[in-house]
Amino acid sequence: MNIQIINGPNLNLLGVREKSIYGSADFESYLAELQNHFTNITINYYQSNVEGEIINKLHEVGFSYDGIVLNAGAYTHTSIAIADAIAAIKTPTIEVHISNVYKREEFRHHSMLAASCKGVIAGFGMHSYRLAIESLLLQY
Ligand code: DQA
Repeated sequence: MNIQIINGPNLNLLGVREKSIYGSADFESYLAELQNHFTNITINYYQSNVEGEIINKLHEVGFSYDGIVLNAGAYTHTSIAIADAIAAIKTPTIEVHISNVYKREEFRHHSMLAASCKGVIAGFGMHSYRLAIESLLLQY
């Protein structure tokens, strides 16, 4: 099974950025934990701060991979183009957020992407990614 994790803008700064919200672990360390946990799954990781590059990655993997775990960062709340890309591909996509966006500013309460996704997981810290992978496994 082949799963693609895609992290959007500013998520390259996990472990450094706003630690009280996002925690002190960097994503690469967490990814190693995930890989140890899901030994039968190939977990691919991609991060970009650029909207078009995220769309290109969705197109690249979205007709052959078994699942996509997408944290589009702030693009979640703004990007019709990413929503259209998710709707255009075949691979089920799970929207994830590290923080509970519903406890935060009102502009984070709306997702442009959620309606195109299989489901949404938010608020479990880095474990939101693990829960998203678990949810993809339920479909197989
Ligand atoms: C985030 C929540 C977004 O509102 C924010 O812009 C991010 C991270 C999260 O993982 O909690 O960059 O997607």
